[in-house]
Amino acid sequence: MTNSKKETWGSRMGLILAMAGSAVGLGNFLRFPAQAIQNGGGAFIIPYLTCFVLMGIPLLYVEWGMGRYGGKSGQHSTPFMFGALDKRFFWKYLGVFGIFTNLAVAAYYCYIESWTLSWAYHSAAGHFLGQTQGQVAAFFNTYVGLGTSEPVMFWIFCLVLNTWILSRGLKGGVEMAAKIGMPMLLLLGVILAIRGVTLSAGSHGAIYDGVIGLNYLWQPNFSSIWDPVVWRNAAGQIFFTLSLGMGSIHCYASYVKSKDDIALNAMSAGWMNEFVEVVLGSAIIIPIAVGYLGVDKVVQMTKGGSGFGIGFMTLPYLFAQWGPALSAMAGVMWFGLLFFAGITSSLAMGTPCMAFMEDNFRWGRTKAAWTFGAAVLLLGIPCVLSQEAFGEFDYWVGTISLVIFAMAEIILFAWVFGMEKGWKEITRGADIKVPIAFKYIIKYVTPLFLLVVFFGSLPEIWATLTKKITGAVLFARILMVALFAAISGLVYVANKKKVAL
Ligand code: ALA
Repeated sequence: MTNSKKETWGSRMGLILAMAGSAVGLGNFLRFPAQAIQNGGGAFIIPYLTCFVLMGIPLLYVEWGMGRYGGKSGQHSTPFMFGALDKRFFWKYLGVFGIFTNLAVAAYYCYIESWTLSWAYHSAAGHFLGQTQGQVAAFFNTYVGLGTSEPVMFWIFCLVLNTWILSRGLKGGVEMAAKIGMPMLLLLGVILAIRGVTLSAGSHGAIYDGVIGLNYLWQPNFSSIWDPVVWRNAAGQIFFTLSLGMGSIHCYASYVKSKDDIALNAMSAGWMNEFVEVVLGSAIIIPIAVGYLGVDKVVQMTKGGSGFGIGFMTLPYLFAQWGPALSAMAGVMWFGLLFFAGITSSLAMGTPCMAFMEDNFRWGRTKAAWTFGAAVLLLGIPCVLSQEAFGEFDYWVGTISLVIFAMAEIILFAWVFGMEKGWKEITRGADIKVPIAFKYIIKYVTPLFLLVVFFGSLPEIWATLTKKITGAVLFARILMVALFAAISGLVYVANKKKVAL
Protein backbone atom coordinates (compact mmCIF):
# COMPACT_ATOMS: atom_id res chain seq x y z
CA MET A 1 0.00 0.00 0.00
CA THR A 2 1.44 3.39 -0.97
CA ASN A 3 0.16 6.56 0.53
CA SER A 4 0.11 9.59 -1.76
CA LYS A 5 2.12 11.47 0.88
CA LYS A 6 5.14 9.32 0.11
CA GLU A 7 4.90 9.73 -3.66
CA THR A 8 7.15 12.08 -5.56
CA TRP A 9 8.36 12.73 -9.10
CA GLY A 10 11.36 10.75 -10.29
CA SER A 11 12.98 13.63 -12.17
CA ARG A 12 12.41 17.20 -13.24
CA MET A 13 12.14 16.13 -16.86
CA GLY A 14 9.54 13.55 -15.86
CA LEU A 15 7.50 16.21 -14.07
CA ILE A 16 7.62 18.63 -17.01
CA LEU A 17 6.70 15.92 -19.49
CA ALA A 18 3.83 14.73 -17.30
CA MET A 19 2.57 18.29 -16.87
CA ALA A 20 2.92 18.99 -20.59
CA GLY A 21 1.28 15.63 -21.29
CA SER A 22 -1.66 16.62 -19.15
CA ALA A 23 -2.06 19.79 -21.21
CA VAL A 24 -1.30 18.42 -24.67
CA GLY A 25 -4.37 16.41 -25.52
CA LEU A 26 -7.16 15.90 -27.99
CA GLY A 27 -7.85 19.59 -27.57
CA ASN A 28 -4.58 20.49 -29.30
CA PHE A 29 -5.10 18.46 -32.44
CA LEU A 30 -8.89 18.39 -32.88
CA ARG A 31 -10.51 21.19 -30.91
CA PHE A 32 -7.92 23.94 -31.59
CA PRO A 33 -7.91 23.74 -35.40
CA ALA A 34 -11.69 23.43 -35.48
CA GLN A 35 -12.14 26.40 -33.14
CA ALA A 36 -9.64 28.47 -35.08
CA ILE A 37 -11.38 27.79 -38.38
CA GLN A 38 -14.84 28.37 -36.92
CA ASN A 39 -13.84 31.67 -35.36
CA GLY A 40 -12.45 33.25 -38.49
CA GLY A 41 -8.94 31.75 -38.86
CA GLY A 42 -6.49 34.62 -38.46
CA ALA A 43 -9.13 36.49 -36.46
CA PHE A 44 -9.00 33.86 -33.73
CA ILE A 45 -5.27 33.93 -33.15
CA ILE A 46 -5.11 37.43 -31.65
CA PRO A 47 -7.76 36.84 -28.93
CA TYR A 48 -6.28 33.38 -28.38
CA LEU A 49 -2.75 34.65 -27.73
CA THR A 50 -4.06 37.53 -25.61
CA CYS A 51 -6.00 35.04 -23.48
CA PHE A 52 -2.86 32.93 -23.17
CA VAL A 53 -0.86 35.85 -21.77
CA LEU A 54 -3.54 37.43 -19.58
CA MET A 55 -5.28 34.29 -18.36
CA GLY A 56 -3.28 31.20 -19.26
CA ILE A 57 0.15 32.15 -17.89
CA PRO A 58 -1.20 33.80 -14.69
CA LEU A 59 -3.41 30.81 -13.91
CA LEU A 60 -0.53 28.43 -14.54
CA TYR A 61 1.51 30.30 -11.92
CA VAL A 62 -1.39 30.33 -9.49
CA GLU A 63 -2.21 26.62 -9.89
CA TRP A 64 1.42 25.53 -9.60
CA GLY A 65 1.85 27.82 -6.57
CA MET A 66 -1.26 26.54 -4.85
CA GLY A 67 -0.33 22.97 -5.62
CA ARG A 68 3.16 23.13 -4.14
CA TYR A 69 1.81 25.01 -1.11
CA GLY A 70 -0.88 22.35 -0.53
CA GLY A 71 1.67 19.57 -0.93
CA LYS A 72 3.63 20.99 2.03
CA SER A 73 0.71 20.19 4.32
CA GLY A 74 0.18 16.78 2.74
CA GLN A 75 -2.75 17.81 0.53
CA HIS A 76 -2.75 16.77 -3.10
CA SER A 77 -6.30 17.65 -4.12
CA THR A 78 -8.04 20.99 -4.13
CA PRO A 79 -10.72 20.78 -1.37
CA PHE A 80 -8.22 20.79 1.49
CA MET A 81 -5.64 22.71 -0.53
CA PHE A 82 -8.16 25.55 -0.66
CA GLY A 83 -8.74 24.89 3.03
CA ALA A 84 -5.01 25.36 3.69
CA LEU A 85 -5.14 28.83 2.11
CA ASP A 86 -8.16 30.00 4.08
CA LYS A 87 -9.97 28.30 6.94
CA ARG A 88 -13.53 29.36 6.07
CA PHE A 89 -15.56 26.24 5.39
CA PHE A 90 -16.93 27.19 1.96
CA TRP A 91 -13.52 27.17 0.26
CA LYS A 92 -13.29 23.40 0.78
CA TYR A 93 -16.59 23.01 -1.02
CA LEU A 94 -15.48 25.25 -3.89
CA GLY A 95 -12.42 23.01 -4.02
CA VAL A 96 -14.80 20.13 -4.82
CA PHE A 97 -14.78 21.43 -8.41
CA GLY A 98 -11.17 20.25 -8.65
CA ILE A 99 -12.26 16.64 -8.27
CA PHE A 100 -15.68 16.86 -9.85
CA THR A 101 -14.38 18.32 -13.12
CA ASN A 102 -11.70 15.68 -13.50
CA LEU A 103 -14.12 12.83 -12.98
CA ALA A 104 -16.81 14.26 -15.21
CA VAL A 105 -14.44 15.22 -18.05
CA ALA A 106 -12.79 11.79 -17.84
CA ALA A 107 -16.26 10.26 -18.29
CA TYR A 108 -16.44 11.38 -21.92
CA TYR A 109 -12.77 12.06 -22.62
CA CYS A 110 -11.74 8.41 -22.15
CA TYR A 111 -14.48 7.42 -24.56
CA ILE A 112 -13.09 9.69 -27.30
CA GLU A 113 -9.63 8.38 -26.46
CA SER A 114 -10.88 4.85 -27.13
CA TRP A 115 -12.09 5.86 -30.60
CA THR A 116 -8.52 6.71 -31.53
CA LEU A 117 -7.43 3.13 -30.81
CA SER A 118 -10.22 1.73 -32.90
CA TRP A 119 -9.49 4.09 -35.82
CA ALA A 120 -5.79 3.22 -35.63
CA TYR A 121 -6.72 -0.44 -35.86
CA HIS A 122 -9.07 0.10 -38.82
CA SER A 123 -6.47 2.23 -40.59
CA ALA A 124 -3.81 -0.47 -40.14
CA ALA A 125 -6.22 -3.10 -41.43
CA GLY A 126 -6.95 -0.98 -44.52
CA HIS A 127 -10.67 -0.78 -43.81
CA PHE A 128 -11.03 2.75 -45.13
CA LEU A 129 -9.43 1.96 -48.49
CA GLY A 130 -11.82 2.32 -51.42
CA GLN A 131 -14.55 3.85 -49.25
CA THR A 132 -16.32 7.04 -50.26
CA GLN A 133 -16.25 10.00 -47.92
CA GLY A 134 -19.88 9.28 -47.09
CA GLN A 135 -19.03 5.71 -46.13
CA VAL A 136 -16.22 6.83 -43.81
CA ALA A 137 -18.61 9.34 -42.19
CA ALA A 138 -21.29 6.64 -41.92
CA PHE A 139 -18.77 4.40 -40.16
CA PHE A 140 -18.33 7.10 -37.52
CA ASN A 141 -22.07 7.56 -37.10
CA THR A 142 -22.68 3.82 -36.77
CA TYR A 143 -19.81 3.59 -34.32
CA VAL A 144 -20.94 6.34 -31.99
CA GLY A 145 -24.54 5.19 -32.44
CA LEU A 146 -23.37 1.84 -30.98
CA GLY A 147 -24.28 -0.05 -34.14
CA THR A 148 -21.75 -2.72 -33.05
CA SER A 149 -20.22 -3.91 -29.79
CA GLU A 150 -16.78 -2.68 -30.82
CA PRO A 151 -16.97 0.80 -29.21
CA VAL A 152 -17.73 -0.73 -25.84
CA MET A 153 -14.80 -3.14 -26.11
CA PHE A 154 -12.32 -0.42 -27.04
CA TRP A 155 -13.71 1.85 -24.33
CA ILE A 156 -13.37 -0.77 -21.58
CA PHE A 157 -9.85 -1.59 -22.78
CA CYS A 158 -8.93 2.07 -22.64
CA LEU A 159 -10.33 2.49 -19.14
CA VAL A 160 -8.50 -0.59 -17.87
CA LEU A 161 -5.26 0.67 -19.40
CA ASN A 162 -5.65 4.09 -17.75
CA THR A 163 -6.48 2.49 -14.43
CA TRP A 164 -3.58 0.08 -14.58
CA ILE A 165 -1.09 2.87 -15.33
CA LEU A 166 -2.55 4.96 -12.49
CA SER A 167 -2.28 2.03 -10.10
CA ARG A 168 1.48 1.94 -10.76
CA GLY A 169 1.82 5.34 -9.14
CA LEU A 170 3.34 8.64 -10.07
CA LYS A 171 6.88 7.61 -10.93
CA GLY A 172 6.27 4.12 -12.28
CA GLY A 173 2.99 4.90 -14.02
CA VAL A 174 2.15 8.49 -14.91
CA GLU A 175 5.74 9.68 -15.35
CA MET A 176 6.69 6.61 -17.34
CA ALA A 177 3.68 7.03 -19.65
CA ALA A 178 4.61 10.68 -20.22
CA LYS A 179 8.23 9.79 -20.99
CA ILE A 180 7.05 7.39 -23.68
CA GLY A 181 3.95 9.24 -24.87
CA MET A 182 5.30 12.77 -25.25
CA PRO A 183 8.35 12.02 -27.45
CA MET A 184 6.23 9.67 -29.57
CA LEU A 185 3.57 12.31 -29.95
CA LEU A 186 6.11 14.97 -30.94
CA LEU A 187 7.73 12.68 -33.48
CA LEU A 188 4.43 11.66 -35.08
CA GLY A 189 3.20 15.27 -34.97
CA VAL A 190 6.28 16.61 -36.76
CA ILE A 191 6.10 13.95 -39.50
CA LEU A 192 2.40 14.58 -40.13
CA ALA A 193 2.83 18.35 -40.00
CA ILE A 194 5.59 18.18 -42.64
CA ARG A 195 3.27 16.08 -44.78
CA GLY A 196 0.46 18.61 -44.24
CA VAL A 197 2.38 21.73 -45.21
CA THR A 198 4.17 20.11 -48.15
CA LEU A 199 1.02 18.64 -49.66
CA SER A 200 0.91 20.09 -53.14
CA ALA A 201 -1.90 20.51 -55.60
CA GLY A 202 -1.97 17.61 -58.02
CA SER A 203 -0.17 15.10 -55.81
CA HIS A 204 -2.34 12.14 -54.75
CA GLY A 205 -5.44 13.90 -55.99
CA ALA A 206 -5.06 17.07 -53.88
CA ILE A 207 -6.64 20.12 -55.51
CA TYR A 208 -4.89 22.87 -53.55
CA ASP A 209 -1.56 23.26 -51.78
CA GLY A 210 -1.81 22.36 -48.10
CA VAL A 211 -0.21 25.67 -47.23
CA ILE A 212 -3.41 27.47 -48.29
CA GLY A 213 -5.06 26.07 -45.16
CA LEU A 214 -2.21 27.34 -43.05
CA ASN A 215 -2.48 30.80 -44.62
CA TYR A 216 -6.15 30.95 -43.78
CA LEU A 217 -5.27 30.28 -40.17
CA TRP A 218 -2.37 32.68 -39.95
CA GLN A 219 -3.33 35.64 -42.09
CA PRO A 220 -4.09 38.33 -39.50
CA ASN A 221 -7.67 39.33 -39.88
CA PHE A 222 -9.06 41.94 -37.55
CA SER A 223 -12.69 41.66 -38.66
CA SER A 224 -14.01 39.69 -35.71
CA ILE A 225 -11.70 41.02 -33.05
CA TRP A 226 -14.58 42.88 -31.39
CA ASP A 227 -16.87 39.88 -31.46
CA PRO A 228 -17.42 38.69 -27.85
CA VAL A 229 -18.17 35.16 -29.04
CA VAL A 230 -14.70 34.86 -30.58
CA TRP A 231 -13.16 36.02 -27.30
CA ARG A 232 -15.24 33.59 -25.28
CA ASN A 233 -14.26 30.72 -27.54
CA ALA A 234 -10.59 31.72 -27.41
CA ALA A 235 -10.75 31.83 -23.61
CA GLY A 236 -12.51 28.45 -23.55
CA GLN A 237 -9.80 26.93 -25.73
CA ILE A 238 -7.03 28.30 -23.47
CA PHE A 239 -8.73 26.76 -20.45
CA PHE A 240 -9.29 23.40 -22.06
CA THR A 241 -5.91 23.07 -23.71
CA LEU A 242 -3.85 24.07 -20.67
CA SER A 243 -6.07 21.94 -18.38
CA LEU A 244 -6.71 25.04 -16.29
CA GLY A 245 -9.50 25.21 -13.74
CA MET A 246 -9.56 21.45 -13.40
CA GLY A 247 -7.45 20.67 -10.35
CA SER A 248 -5.00 18.40 -12.14
CA ILE A 249 -2.16 20.95 -12.30
CA HIS A 250 -2.54 21.52 -8.54
CA CYS A 251 -2.27 17.82 -7.95
CA TYR A 252 0.86 17.26 -10.06
CA ALA A 253 2.50 20.37 -8.56
CA SER A 254 1.74 19.21 -5.02
CA TYR A 255 4.36 16.50 -5.42
CA VAL A 256 7.11 19.08 -6.07
CA LYS A 257 9.41 19.62 -3.08
CA SER A 258 8.74 22.91 -1.34
CA LYS A 259 12.11 24.45 -2.23
CA ASP A 260 12.12 23.33 -5.85
CA ASP A 261 11.37 25.64 -8.76
CA ILE A 262 7.86 25.95 -10.09
CA ALA A 263 8.16 29.12 -12.17
CA LEU A 264 10.39 27.70 -14.90
CA ASN A 265 8.62 24.35 -14.77
CA ALA A 266 5.23 26.00 -15.25
CA MET A 267 6.51 27.97 -18.24
CA SER A 268 8.25 24.96 -19.80
CA ALA A 269 5.10 22.84 -19.65
CA GLY A 270 2.81 25.70 -20.71
CA TRP A 271 4.93 26.79 -23.66
CA MET A 272 5.44 23.20 -24.76
CA ASN A 273 1.67 22.89 -24.93
CA GLU A 274 1.41 26.09 -26.96
CA PHE A 275 4.10 24.96 -29.38
CA VAL A 276 2.31 21.66 -29.94
CA GLU A 277 -1.06 23.37 -30.30
CA VAL A 278 -0.22 26.38 -32.41
CA VAL A 279 2.53 24.90 -34.56
CA LEU A 280 1.72 21.19 -34.85
CA GLY A 281 -2.02 21.38 -34.12
CA SER A 282 -2.59 23.81 -36.96
CA ALA A 283 -0.29 22.09 -39.46
CA ILE A 284 -1.98 18.70 -39.74
CA ILE A 285 -5.72 18.46 -40.24
CA ILE A 286 -6.30 21.91 -41.69
CA PRO A 287 -3.71 21.82 -44.52
CA ILE A 288 -4.59 18.25 -45.45
CA ALA A 289 -8.35 18.84 -45.43
CA VAL A 290 -8.06 22.18 -47.22
CA GLY A 291 -5.73 20.59 -49.80
CA TYR A 292 -8.52 18.26 -50.88
CA LEU A 293 -11.70 20.10 -50.02
CA GLY A 294 -10.96 23.82 -50.02
CA VAL A 295 -11.45 26.37 -47.24
CA ASP A 296 -15.24 26.77 -47.52
CA LYS A 297 -15.97 23.07 -47.17
CA VAL A 298 -13.60 22.79 -44.21
CA VAL A 299 -15.32 25.73 -42.50
CA GLN A 300 -18.61 23.88 -42.94
CA MET A 301 -17.18 20.63 -41.60
CA THR A 302 -15.82 22.14 -38.41
CA LYS A 303 -19.23 23.43 -37.27
CA GLY A 304 -19.64 22.71 -33.59
CA GLY A 305 -15.91 23.18 -33.05
CA SER A 306 -15.08 19.66 -31.84
CA GLY A 307 -12.96 18.63 -34.83
CA PHE A 308 -14.56 15.17 -35.00
CA GLY A 309 -15.97 15.94 -38.44
CA ILE A 310 -12.51 16.27 -39.94
CA GLY A 311 -10.41 14.19 -37.55
CA PHE A 312 -12.48 11.02 -37.61
CA MET A 313 -14.96 11.36 -40.45
CA THR A 314 -12.83 12.85 -43.22
CA LEU A 315 -9.11 12.34 -42.64
CA PRO A 316 -9.23 8.52 -43.05
CA TYR A 317 -10.88 9.05 -46.43
CA LEU A 318 -8.22 11.55 -47.49
CA PHE A 319 -5.40 9.29 -46.26
CA ALA A 320 -6.90 6.50 -48.38
CA GLN A 321 -6.09 8.60 -51.47
CA TRP A 322 -2.40 8.07 -50.71
CA GLY A 323 -2.46 4.33 -51.53
CA PRO A 324 -2.55 1.27 -49.23
CA ALA A 325 0.88 1.51 -47.56
CA LEU A 326 1.01 5.28 -47.03
CA SER A 327 -2.58 5.51 -45.91
CA ALA A 328 -2.15 2.74 -43.32
CA MET A 329 0.96 4.47 -42.01
CA ALA A 330 -0.67 7.90 -41.93
CA GLY A 331 -3.78 6.53 -40.20
CA VAL A 332 -1.80 4.70 -37.53
CA MET A 333 0.37 7.77 -37.00
CA TRP A 334 -2.53 10.22 -36.77
CA PHE A 335 -4.71 8.14 -34.47
CA GLY A 336 -1.66 6.95 -32.53
CA LEU A 337 -0.73 10.58 -31.98
CA LEU A 338 -4.25 11.33 -30.76
CA PHE A 339 -4.08 8.34 -28.45
CA PHE A 340 -0.80 9.41 -26.83
CA ALA A 341 -2.14 12.95 -26.50
CA GLY A 342 -5.35 11.66 -24.94
CA ILE A 343 -3.95 9.17 -22.46
CA THR A 344 -1.36 11.54 -20.96
CA SER A 345 -4.27 13.93 -20.31
CA SER A 346 -6.71 11.39 -18.91
CA LEU A 347 -4.07 10.09 -16.48
CA ALA A 348 -3.86 13.61 -15.09
CA MET A 349 -7.62 13.52 -14.50
CA GLY A 350 -7.24 10.40 -12.37
CA THR A 351 -4.55 11.60 -9.98
CA PRO A 352 -6.51 14.29 -8.03
CA CYS A 353 -9.40 11.89 -7.40
CA MET A 354 -7.04 9.17 -6.20
CA ALA A 355 -5.01 11.57 -4.08
CA PHE A 356 -8.17 12.81 -2.37
CA MET A 357 -9.07 9.30 -1.20
CA GLU A 358 -5.47 8.44 -0.31
CA ASP A 359 -4.89 11.64 1.68
CA ASN A 360 -8.17 11.72 3.53
CA PHE A 361 -9.34 8.13 3.82
CA ARG A 362 -5.99 6.37 3.91
CA TRP A 363 -6.74 4.37 0.81
CA GLY A 364 -3.94 2.56 -1.00
CA ARG A 365 -3.03 3.54 -4.55
CA THR A 366 -4.42 0.37 -6.15
CA LYS A 367 -7.80 0.67 -4.48
CA ALA A 368 -7.97 4.37 -5.37
CA ALA A 369 -7.05 3.71 -9.02
CA TRP A 370 -9.62 0.97 -9.57
CA THR A 371 -12.32 2.98 -7.81
CA PHE A 372 -11.54 5.88 -10.14
CA GLY A 373 -11.76 3.51 -13.12
CA ALA A 374 -15.12 2.18 -11.91
CA ALA A 375 -16.47 5.69 -11.33
CA VAL A 376 -15.45 6.78 -14.84
CA LEU A 377 -17.09 3.67 -16.25
CA LEU A 378 -20.39 4.40 -14.49
CA LEU A 379 -20.35 8.11 -15.32
CA GLY A 380 -19.36 7.36 -18.88
CA ILE A 381 -22.32 5.08 -19.60
CA PRO A 382 -24.74 7.95 -20.36
CA CYS A 383 -22.10 9.60 -22.59
CA VAL A 384 -21.59 6.36 -24.50
CA LEU A 385 -25.32 5.76 -24.87
CA SER A 386 -26.40 9.29 -25.74
CA GLN A 387 -24.65 12.01 -27.67
CA GLU A 388 -26.90 14.55 -26.00
CA ALA A 389 -25.66 13.46 -22.57
CA PHE A 390 -22.11 13.64 -23.95
CA GLY A 391 -22.74 17.23 -25.08
CA GLU A 392 -24.16 18.17 -21.68
CA PHE A 393 -21.09 16.89 -19.86
CA ASP A 394 -18.81 18.70 -22.26
CA TYR A 395 -20.70 21.97 -21.89
CA TRP A 396 -21.13 22.09 -18.12
CA VAL A 397 -17.86 20.56 -16.98
CA GLY A 398 -15.61 21.00 -20.02
CA THR A 399 -16.51 24.68 -20.37
CA ILE A 400 -18.49 26.32 -17.57
CA SER A 401 -17.13 24.68 -14.44
CA LEU A 402 -13.53 25.42 -15.49
CA VAL A 403 -14.26 29.14 -15.46
CA ILE A 404 -16.13 29.02 -12.12
CA PHE A 405 -13.29 27.11 -10.49
CA ALA A 406 -10.68 29.49 -11.93
CA MET A 407 -12.57 32.53 -10.60
CA ALA A 408 -12.72 30.96 -7.15
CA GLU A 409 -9.07 30.00 -7.07
CA ILE A 410 -7.71 33.34 -8.23
CA ILE A 411 -9.83 35.26 -5.71
CA LEU A 412 -8.69 32.90 -2.98
CA PHE A 413 -5.04 33.10 -3.97
CA ALA A 414 -4.65 36.77 -4.85
CA TRP A 415 -7.19 38.42 -2.55
CA VAL A 416 -7.82 36.14 0.42
CA PHE A 417 -4.47 34.42 0.88
CA GLY A 418 -2.99 37.68 -0.37
CA MET A 419 -0.85 38.58 -3.35
CA GLU A 420 2.26 39.35 -1.29
CA LYS A 421 2.32 35.82 0.14
CA GLY A 422 1.13 34.43 -3.17
CA TRP A 423 3.98 36.09 -5.07
CA LYS A 424 6.49 34.65 -2.60
CA GLU A 425 4.99 31.22 -3.20
CA ILE A 426 5.31 31.54 -6.98
CA THR A 427 8.85 32.89 -6.93
CA ARG A 428 10.32 30.74 -4.12
CA GLY A 429 13.17 28.65 -5.54
CA ALA A 430 12.45 30.03 -9.03
CA ASP A 431 15.02 29.28 -11.71
CA ILE A 432 13.83 32.25 -13.76
CA LYS A 433 12.95 35.79 -12.92
CA VAL A 434 9.19 35.97 -13.12
CA PRO A 435 8.25 39.36 -14.64
CA ILE A 436 6.85 41.51 -11.85
CA ALA A 437 4.01 42.55 -14.16
CA PHE A 438 2.43 39.16 -13.47
CA LYS A 439 1.98 40.08 -9.81
CA TYR A 440 -0.45 42.80 -10.92
CA ILE A 441 -1.91 40.82 -13.78
CA ILE A 442 -2.76 37.99 -11.35
CA LYS A 443 -4.30 40.37 -8.85
CA TYR A 444 -6.29 42.66 -11.14
CA VAL A 445 -6.32 41.74 -14.81
CA THR A 446 -6.96 37.99 -14.75
CA PRO A 447 -9.86 38.13 -12.23
CA LEU A 448 -11.45 40.93 -14.24
CA PHE A 449 -10.93 39.02 -17.45
CA LEU A 450 -12.53 35.93 -15.92
CA LEU A 451 -15.49 37.92 -14.64
CA VAL A 452 -16.04 39.41 -18.08
CA VAL A 453 -15.86 35.96 -19.70
CA PHE A 454 -18.24 34.54 -17.11
CA PHE A 455 -20.78 37.36 -17.22
CA GLY A 456 -20.53 37.40 -20.99
CA SER A 457 -21.55 33.73 -20.98
CA LEU A 458 -24.52 34.22 -18.65
CA PRO A 459 -27.10 34.85 -21.41
CA GLU A 460 -25.99 31.65 -23.12
CA ILE A 461 -26.05 29.71 -19.83
CA TRP A 462 -29.54 31.01 -19.14
CA ALA A 463 -30.72 30.09 -22.64
CA THR A 464 -29.27 26.58 -22.18
CA LEU A 465 -31.00 26.18 -18.83
CA THR A 466 -34.39 27.37 -20.00
CA LYS A 467 -34.38 25.43 -23.29
CA LYS A 468 -36.77 22.48 -23.58
CA ILE A 469 -34.74 19.37 -22.79
CA THR A 470 -34.92 15.65 -23.44
CA GLY A 471 -34.79 12.84 -20.88
CA ALA A 472 -31.12 12.15 -21.66
CA VAL A 473 -30.14 15.75 -20.98
CA LEU A 474 -32.12 15.79 -17.74
CA PHE A 475 -30.50 12.55 -16.64
CA ALA A 476 -27.02 13.90 -17.42
CA ARG A 477 -27.72 17.05 -15.40
CA ILE A 478 -29.06 15.09 -12.41
CA LEU A 479 -26.01 12.85 -12.56
CA MET A 480 -23.62 15.81 -12.52
CA VAL A 481 -25.42 17.42 -9.58
CA ALA A 482 -25.44 14.08 -7.72
CA LEU A 483 -21.73 13.66 -8.38
CA PHE A 484 -20.95 17.12 -7.03
CA ALA A 485 -23.11 16.41 -3.95
CA ALA A 486 -21.45 13.04 -3.37
CA ILE A 487 -17.94 14.53 -3.48
CA SER A 488 -19.08 17.34 -1.16
CA GLY A 489 -20.38 14.65 1.20
CA LEU A 490 -16.95 13.00 1.20
CA VAL A 491 -15.31 16.36 1.91
CA TYR A 492 -17.71 16.83 4.82
CA VAL A 493 -16.87 13.41 6.28
CA ALA A 494 -13.13 13.92 5.76
CA ASN A 495 -13.33 17.31 7.42
CA LYS A 496 -15.19 15.87 10.42
CA LYS A 497 -12.47 13.26 10.80
CA LYS A 498 -9.77 15.93 10.70
CA VAL A 499 -11.55 18.07 13.28
CA ALA A 500 -12.00 15.06 15.58
CA LEU A 501 -8.29 14.20 15.44
N1 ALA B 1 -5.75 19.71 -21.92
C1 ALA B 1 -6.34 18.54 -22.42
C2 ALA B 1 -6.61 18.64 -23.87
O1 ALA B 1 -6.22 19.58 -24.52
C3 ALA B 1 -7.58 18.19 -21.64
O2 ALA B 1 -7.21 17.80 -24.44
